[in-house]
Amino acid sequence: MTLEMNKYLQVRKAQAQGARTIEELKEISDIVIENEEELKEVEALIKSACKCKNVAIGTIVEAVKNGADTVEKVGEVTKAGTGCGRCKSIISNIIENKR
Ligand code: FES
Repeated sequence: MTLEMNKYLQVRKAQAQGARTIEELKEISDIVIENEEELKEVEALIKSACKCKNVAIGTIVEAVKNGADTVEKVGEVTKAGTGCGRCKSIISNIIENKR
């Protein structure tokens, strides 16, 4: 991955505030996507929730829809959030918004 750290963090922060698409990311943050390569990286990143355990947003949404209503329960079912824990705010937001 070649995405600059500050952009990576902008995406992660926006995800924790509910951004699930590039459009929502642009509304929530002031991220500037410079080129096609960067866009591809951001598109891949925004679909992922937990880097440590390589868990997609969609996997967590599925777990939440199946009844996992706390960060701990999501972790039990998907392993998301059970590494460094930095993605827990994203998991919380998914639980809150059910998306
Ligand atoms: S990114 Fe999810 S536990 Fe580290």
